[in-house]
Amino acid sequence: MTEFARNQWYVAAYGHEVGRELLGRTILNEPVVFYRTEETGEVVALADRCVHRRYPLSAAPSRLDGDNLVCGYHGFTYGTSGTCVYVPGQKRIPRTARISSYPVVEQDSFVWVWIGAPDLADAAAIPRAPHMADPRWKTVSGMEPIDCDYGLLVDNLLDLSHETYLHGGYIGTPEVAETPISTEVDEGAGIVRVSRHMDDAACPPFYSRSTGIEGRITRWQDIEYHAPCLYLLHSRIAPVGVLPHADGTDPDAFHVEVTYAITPSTDKHVYDFWAVSRDFAQDDDEVTAFLHDNNHTVVMQDVTALNLLQQALDQESAGYQELSINIDTGGLAARRILARLAAGGGRPAPAAPAATPAATR
Ligand code: FES
Ligand SMILES: [Fe+2]
Repeated sequence: MTEFARNQWYVAAYGHEVGRELLGRTILNEPVVFYRTEETGEVVALADRCVHRRYPLSAAPSRLDGDNLVCGYHGFTYGTSGTCVYVPGQKRIPRTARISSYPVVEQDSFVWVWIGAPDLADAAAIPRAPHMADPRWKTVSGMEPIDCDYGLLVDNLLDLSHETYLHGGYIGTPEVAETPISTEVDEGAGIVRVSRHMDDAACPPFYSRSTGIEGRITRWQDIEYHAPCLYLLHSRIAPVGVLPHADGTDPDAFHVEVTYAITPSTDKHVYDFWAVSRDFAQDDDEVTAFLHDNNHTVVMQDVTALNLLQQALDQESAGYQELSINIDTGGLAARRILARLAAGGGRPAPAAPAATPAATR
């Protein structure tokens, strides 16, 4: 079994996915059921297995009765803290009739859950993605499950040179693979930064069609990976030679925040939450639809590749060796941090709240 970093926050869902319908998700091999309370709208996260005969509480005909969760098999009923409040056919409720409840925080449009030791859960340690819930940014988003070890998705996102090959004609151009990266690692905070600044690059359709730029561009990709779950790609696109002003404002560039949340489900299954937020053409529905569909296509190219890669690795019965090069520096740093976190070697210090990147257009 894969060792997961348990004492960490993970994205379980988008806030809009959780309501009065029961939502089942498996996080770090633990089945969890989510719903919102009627009165306050708070998100509840409980173990998704009935204490009686282990029926999945997220499955029909399980249902909500007010804020209580009624098992669809024989009717054991649980309150929001997981304590059993009713069993059929007898007055006495066994003392052990309770299921686990998990700490939950709703922030930046995500529902974050804590699967580890509850007394270690510190909401201040959740990394921020403020653009996700900021009206100055227009966001399209989705989630795709992938049948691979979550480490393969971390590798994939920390090395964007693959855009040139896997996503050619969408977001990839030759310059991405050709331009060297710079990598910075904050081991203590568990943050890996990988930057690639292209001064004079072809504009891929993803950006030419959404920004209207014709001709070559200055394209910056600044990755900030907050292990284990949150990945931010700050992307800046401008006509060649257009740079930020000396005072830090950047009114003539287009900015895109690409957000991923990487949540291990089971050993070879990962939830890939993706979002694209932009600070231009916010009211243009055509641009919104284009970016959603185009990015979904790009994500599915990764999904197909990672499903295939996992199958190939599974066939390597005698084990295998990899060959790493410069482009892998960020991914290797991430693996190191994830291994330390999984071994219980301390969790990142609470990150300073990130300022919302200035929306300039
Ligand atoms: S399995 Fe839930 S009540 Fe029996
Ligand atoms: Fe990709």
